[in-house]
Amino acid sequence: AVPDALPRDLEGRRVVISAGGTREPLDPVRYLGNRSSGKQGYALARVAAQRGAQVTLIAGHTVEMPDPAGVDLRRVSTAEQLRVAVHEAAATAEVVVMAAAVADFRPAARADYKIKKSDDAPDPVIRLDRNADILAELVAAREAGQVIVGFAAETGDEHGTVLDHARAKLKRKGCDLLVVNAVGEGKAFEVEDNAGWLLSADGAERPIPLGSKSQLATTVWDAVADFISSSGS
Ligand code: CTP
Ligand code: CA
Repeated sequence: AVPDALPRDLEGRRVVISAGGTREPLDPVRYLGNRSSGKQGYALARVAAQRGAQVTLIAGHTVEMPDPAGVDLRRVSTAEQLRVAVHEAAATAEVVVMAAAVADFRPAARADYKIKKSDDAPDPVIRLDRNADILAELVAAREAGQVIVGFAAETGDEHGTVLDHARAKLKRKGCDLLVVNAVGEGKAFEVEDNAGWLLSADGAERPIPLGSKSQLATTVWDAVADFISSSGS
């Protein structure tokens, strides 16, 4: 690492980053989870701190990684815990990046005891309730000038391409920037590299070449720094 090669363009900026996956309990020993590694969120935190930002990292479940240097790290488990922690930290932040894989649903009931199988009773059916959309809440609650960045992993399907879905999501979410990972064929989950697009609310769309999660983090912070300087804050 060559520290002085990095721009200090985020000096003193208060940024909040969420990372990793949430777990929604079914009973004392089981949960619904996802395969997020948290590596992208950690890379975003590391790069932001290196560029001078004051970083709060709200981490759900991740693979084993060293704590990023110079970062205020807070650990959470469920989507609801992530929600509370993000809103608290976001209240005083200039930039919020939602890189966490937040569960869309949670089991409607959490059993107090381990769920047992029985030959005398029908197999259980799990009912799910919808979790709050933290990114949409951040957009609704934001103070003027706060920059909000979302992430999306998309596949193309019969309703449209990856880009079609991403453009619709950016509009629906109302955030300033949306980082889109094209998934499938071993991309994005549990691998080191990402490829996709960076979509901006003003309509700008840049492709993100296949590269490391640190490179993607650099691309995101470059775009955020542009955003901050063009909005004159
Ligand atoms: N997100 C969030 N709260 C949720 C779900 C998602 O804040 N309950 C955030 C993610 O952290 C991400 C962005 O919203 O930054 C997009 O997540 P994604 O799962 O792609 O969007 P959804 O609106 O949940 O749409 P989908 O039905 O495609 O999962
Ligand atoms: Ca989702």
